[in-house]
Amino acid sequence: MTLLERSVGVEDLVLLEPLEEKSLLQNLQLRYQNKEIYTYIGNVLISVNPYQQLPIYGPEFIATYRDYTFYEQKPHIYALANMAYQSLRDLDRDQCLLITGESGAGKTEASKLVMSYVAAVCEKGEQVNSVKEQLLQSNPVLEAFGNAKTIRNNNSSRFGKYMDVEFDFKGSPLGGVITNYLLEKSRVVKQLEGERNFHIFYQLLAGADAQLMKALKLEPDVSSYAYLNPKVSRVDGMDDASNFKAVQNAMAVIGFSEEEIRRVLEVTALVLKLGNVKLRDEFQASGVSASGILDGKALQEIGEMVGLNSNDIEKALCSRTMETAKEKVVTALNVIQAHYARDALAKNIYSRLFNWIVNRINDSIKVNTKEEKKVMGVLDIYGFEILEDNSFEQFVINYCNEKLQQVFIEMTLKEEQEEYKREGIPWTKVDYFDNGIICNLIEHNQRGILAMLDEECLRPGVVSDSTFLAKLNQLFSKHSHYESKVTQNAQRQYDHTMGLSCFRICHYAGKVTYSVTSFIDKNNDLLFRDLSQVMWKAQHPLLRSLFPEGDPKQASLKRPPTAGTQFKNSVSILMKNLYAKNPNYIRCIKPNEQQQRGLFSSELVAVQARYLGLLENVRVRRAGYAFRQGYGPFLERYRLLSKSTWPHWNGGDREGVEKLLGELSLSPEEMTYGKTKIFIRSPKTLFFLEEQRRLRLQQLATLIQKIYRGWRCRTHYQQMRKSQILISSWFRGNMQKKRYGKMKASALLIQAFVRGWKARKDYRKYFRSGAALTLANFIYKSIAQKFLLGLKNNLPPHNVLDKTWPAAPYKYFNTANRELRKLFHQWKCKKFRDRLSPKQVESLREKVCASELFKDKKASYPQSVPVPFQGDYIGLQRNPKLQKLKGGEEGPVLLADTVKKVNRGNGKTSSRILLLTKRHVILTDTKKSQTKTVIGLDSVAGVSVTSLRDGLFGLHLTELSSVGSKGDFLLISEHVVELLTKMYQAILETTQKQLPITVTEKFSVKFKDGSVSVKVIQGPGDGEKGKLNCKKKGSQGLEVTV
Ligand SMILES: Nc1ncnc2c1ncn2[C@@H]1O[C@H](COP(=O)(O)OP(=O)(O)OP(=O)(O)O)[C@@H](O)[C@H]1O
Ligand SMILES: [Mg+2]
Repeated sequence: MTLLERSVGVEDLVLLEPLEEKSLLQNLQLRYQNKEIYTYIGNVLISVNPYQQLPIYGPEFIATYRDYTFYEQKPHIYALANMAYQSLRDLDRDQCLLITGESGAGKTEASKLVMSYVAAVCEKGEQVNSVKEQLLQSNPVLEAFGNAKTIRNNNSSRFGKYMDVEFDFKGSPLGGVITNYLLEKSRVVKQLEGERNFHIFYQLLAGADAQLMKALKLEPDVSSYAYLNPKVSRVDGMDDASNFKAVQNAMAVIGFSEEEIRRVLEVTALVLKLGNVKLRDEFQASGVSASGILDGKALQEIGEMVGLNSNDIEKALCSRTMETAKEKVVTALNVIQAHYARDALAKNIYSRLFNWIVNRINDSIKVNTKEEKKVMGVLDIYGFEILEDNSFEQFVINYCNEKLQQVFIEMTLKEEQEEYKREGIPWTKVDYFDNGIICNLIEHNQRGILAMLDEECLRPGVVSDSTFLAKLNQLFSKHSHYESKVTQNAQRQYDHTMGLSCFRICHYAGKVTYSVTSFIDKNNDLLFRDLSQVMWKAQHPLLRSLFPEGDPKQASLKRPPTAGTQFKNSVSILMKNLYAKNPNYIRCIKPNEQQQRGLFSSELVAVQARYLGLLENVRVRRAGYAFRQGYGPFLERYRLLSKSTWPHWNGGDREGVEKLLGELSLSPEEMTYGKTKIFIRSPKTLFFLEEQRRLRLQQLATLIQKIYRGWRCRTHYQQMRKSQILISSWFRGNMQKKRYGKMKASALLIQAFVRGWKARKDYRKYFRSGAALTLANFIYKSIAQKFLLGLKNNLPPHNVLDKTWPAAPYKYFNTANRELRKLFHQWKCKKFRDRLSPKQVESLREKVCASELFKDKKASYPQSVPVPFQGDYIGLQRNPKLQKLKGGEEGPVLLADTVKKVNRGNGKTSSRILLLTKRHVILTDTKKSQTKTVIGLDSVAGVSVTSLRDGLFGLHLTELSSVGSKGDFLLISEHVVELLTKMYQAILETTQKQLPITVTEKFSVKFKDGSVSVKVIQGPGDGEKGKLNCKKKGSQGLEVTV
């Protein structure tokens, strides 16, 4: 209820304080003057005609209202249409919109606004758009043919219209059905002062082009036509010519073919022309007055246009054929009757044409699918009418309004009170005026006015309007809602306004005095058969089809139902239809009679408010409770007022509402809990709740702002953070990728290098750069080869002692040459050795041994080298005598030589033969040739020799030897080297001992009687041939000079 916050007056009269007629009117007036023409009573919309275009319609407003629920925006017809459409689409409830109000109150405008709203909000699509277009375009066509300027309304609907718009399950329009009620056809032939005929006549004359005018044989001047009131040919703000274009266009959109449009216009023109058919008095031969055509032009034109013989028309107009089962009687009509017949024909043609148009539109907008449909009915029926002179038309119109009021009463006032019952709320009934009694007065099957009228029409005998009135007066003399002169007189009342031929009904909307004149006729609605038959004969297909009963084959004597009965039946069907739907009310109020903007006539509005029962409506609505709402929506709206229910409430709706209202500490009488709804008694409480809600909303808005700002910053921060993480991860990734790329490239480079290096290694030999080396190697090799081969061919003599060797041709062969030389020498030696006999080997071995023992130690050694060791120097082999010296000794004599033995006593020498065997050294006296001394080699302890060239050596014996007693021997041998070598070898062989040979110039020799030290001195000679000189030096010394 945001509307409470910025409303002008109260937007819902339920909230009106104080609730009385005056304040209600003031409120409506205040709002009206502020251009707030819509006001609610609960869900009933009151609309006060603004008589001006207000800037509150159009696409933006439609867009606003489609997004809000009923009470969220200012009251508006769009809100109501939206509520109806949404509950049709979403709750699957068929809807009807009942638009009621006086003529000129704005019903038709309201119905158009509803249609345009529904067309705008429902789904779009090519198919849907064309259906919508057809539905919308039906309006200008029906208005052209069914509306007229009256003194109350420049565009007054002169027929009732109920339009069912059918939708599919999605809420897209599929099509519709239009039902029309009782066109005010009397208008075709006669209009009140200041009123016009139906718009289409003026539109046709003003808007048709010359060609069409010619074809229809029309003249543009309105005054040329008797049926058109020449005083009011134009209506302010209405452009007939352009409207005509619009109507033609609309007919084309709906689907009228060009031919159909032309035919319709021809029939319209025909009606106009009929008015111009003038009749005159004639007299038959019998003196009976008759009638005839005064001016045949119009009739002629009619005949040509519809393909009829004008004589036939004339005959039909001026005479009447009475047909009974047995005979046919033709009676002439007097001029009044003929005029009546002419007008009757014109009215009939026009009203049948109108019906035909409605049916044709229905054919176009008919829904062909069999799928389930949802229906929204919009009822725009002529408003309640109180004219100066009210006739049958006003009677049925007001009857219809009476019925609608009944629907309203049944469905709102009753329903309201029944709701309390349903909800289990204690309730005292509020009285309201139930118009059932008036409806009954009119429509009661046996005792209703319509039934009486029918009865009178069908009654044989003299029947007239006055007999009908008499019947009514008799029947309803006591009826509280029926008055007439007779009943008034009975009650001793007198009223100037009531004529003798009138009766009055106290309608819900006021008293209306009807004149009974022509009630019977209008109810009979009979067209002389001659006329329908002649019409049927026309060549014009449309005209012909309008009079099917004119076909002689179809002719039946049975009377068609009367106009009253037909109307009653269609109203009853309408009522049934409305009761089956969810009603939505738009109560239109007319603010003034002058059709002036801004003018609010309180009296006029008060009358309407009264008969519309607005106050009762409000009272019932809030007698107990100004406001009620389902627990769910109520909780939803106000739960923000309590901490227990805001922001979450987990319990049931009702408990939530109880908790909420309990916490708000409202007085308990203010609220009542129904079964499904909460009822709030006074508007004040609701205002309080609304005010609290408004304040709370501000707080919450701040809270939302705060949270939103926080959220925005947080999300912004998080986004930034995410972005930062993303960027850094990309960066890191990229860095690593680059690094990896580098590593990979490096690895590949290294690999390539290695492979290259390997390959180059393998292929280097093929390189040009290696060629020099190869060549050098080759040259080097060939030089070496040449050198070696040259050497091979020119080897020096193979003599071991020949040390000659060719010099190397190049310096760098020096080492190799040296080695080769060494090898060659060794090879020569080997060869030499290989050629040696074992004996030679033996002697060389001895030589080697000698070398080891004496080389570089003894001066006489070098001389001994080239001299072969002969072993036998005394010719032992050849001298058997000497051989004996050997005694029994086994083995060969290794050496046999003559040695000198130094006498120790005096140093003198004596010769001896020395034999060396493998075991012994035998010393024999040369002369005696007898063994003198045999010394076992095992008792030789050592030998001392000098380093000089002498042959002196001391043979040291072990002390234990058998010869030891004589002591050591000091001997001189010329072959001292050979001797000692052989001795050394023999001892080594036999005793495995190395004989110690000491090279010294001073040594001591042990003798029997002590030891003598021997000192060898180099004499002046070189000691050759062993000549030496031993001198005794003291007892213990011996000096040897060599
Ligand atoms: N909402 C509106 N805005 C502007 N003008 C309006 C509005 N409603 C009605 N009118 C004006 O009032 C005139 C009469 O309205 P409308 O024809 O709808 O009345 P009605 O109730 O249908 O009358 P009737 O019963 O005679 O057909 C319209 O032609 C228009 O000029
Ligand atoms: Mg209207």
